[in-house]
Amino acid sequence: MTHAVDIAILGAGAVGQLICRQLTVAGMNVGFIGRSALEASQQVLSFTPLASADDHQQIQAIPYSVPILTADALDNIRLVIVCVKAYQVLDALSPLLKQLPNQCHILLLHNGMGPHLALAPLIDTQTNGRGLSLGTTSQGVLRQAAWQIKQTGQGLTQLGHFTGEELTEHYRNALLAAIPNSEWVDAIVPCLWQKLAVNAAINPLTALYQCPNGILAEPDFSGMINSILDELIMVAAHDGVSLDKSFLHDRVYQVIRLTAGNFSSMHQDIAHQRRTEIDQINGYICDRAQAHGLSAPVNAELRVRVKQLAV
Ligand code: PAF
Repeated sequence: MTHAVDIAILGAGAVGQLICRQLTVAGMNVGFIGRSALEASQQVLSFTPLASADDHQQIQAIPYSVPILTADALDNIRLVIVCVKAYQVLDALSPLLKQLPNQCHILLLHNGMGPHLALAPLIDTQTNGRGLSLGTTSQGVLRQAAWQIKQTGQGLTQLGHFTGEELTEHYRNALLAAIPNSEWVDAIVPCLWQKLAVNAAINPLTALYQCPNGILAEPDFSGMINSILDELIMVAAHDGVSLDKSFLHDRVYQVIRLTAGNFSSMHQDIAHQRRTEIDQINGYICDRAQAHGLSAPVNAELRVRVKQLAV
């Protein structure tokens, strides 16, 4: 017996495809929301798992097939996982809000912060029982071609409730069972600020200095990284989130060490002349600073410099 697809993923980038693979393997009925009615109704994807230390042979890619859903056929969807870039969230999701059934829950899973603030008022909590959860993942994954990804690292995934109806226990348990090293946290916003700190320190500096993450361990960068974190901690405090400097500092340097050979997503965006997420990373710190009548000059300067690179 085939079951209707009840989990839809919006955004078939590297993270979207990885989550899709993990939910599919766990036996969930998952599909992608297509961009146009012309797309195939099934798509063959290729997933290459992470090689373990004892894998001496080349790891084989695994092909598998996933339904592509059209925007007018979303009646059975109970959970949408949004994996598009942060700056695409509102444009991609807003037209779908009316087409999704009332009891459909939304989970945002992207780098950076910001879209949740714009989206919250659009989630009508009074009448339709819809809810919004947020998440962050540090799993390493590389998109090798349109429908082809390779897992490059393990990492923590944190999910939690933000507003409206809570995600049902059924879907919460399904996500936690499917995504390795994942947890449901009581307060997700501080976790997003912690991840933001990692991205705010690593991404613009690797983009500006055109280097892999590991180079940032050099003492030349420590003053800059400290200032980025100090401003972020000050702004987060005004947003009601208290962050510990030495914890954040250790976390940034741990990621720099663990991903020393990698090029950050912002470095890659610049290298491939794609739009970056600077507005949702260092820009979010500046925007929240401004909302509180404060300034964050170091993050503001990085925002300007990265934008200059992109033209
Ligand atoms: O955006 C990225 O590239 C990653 O989130 C991180 C953690 C900075 C590692 O490269």
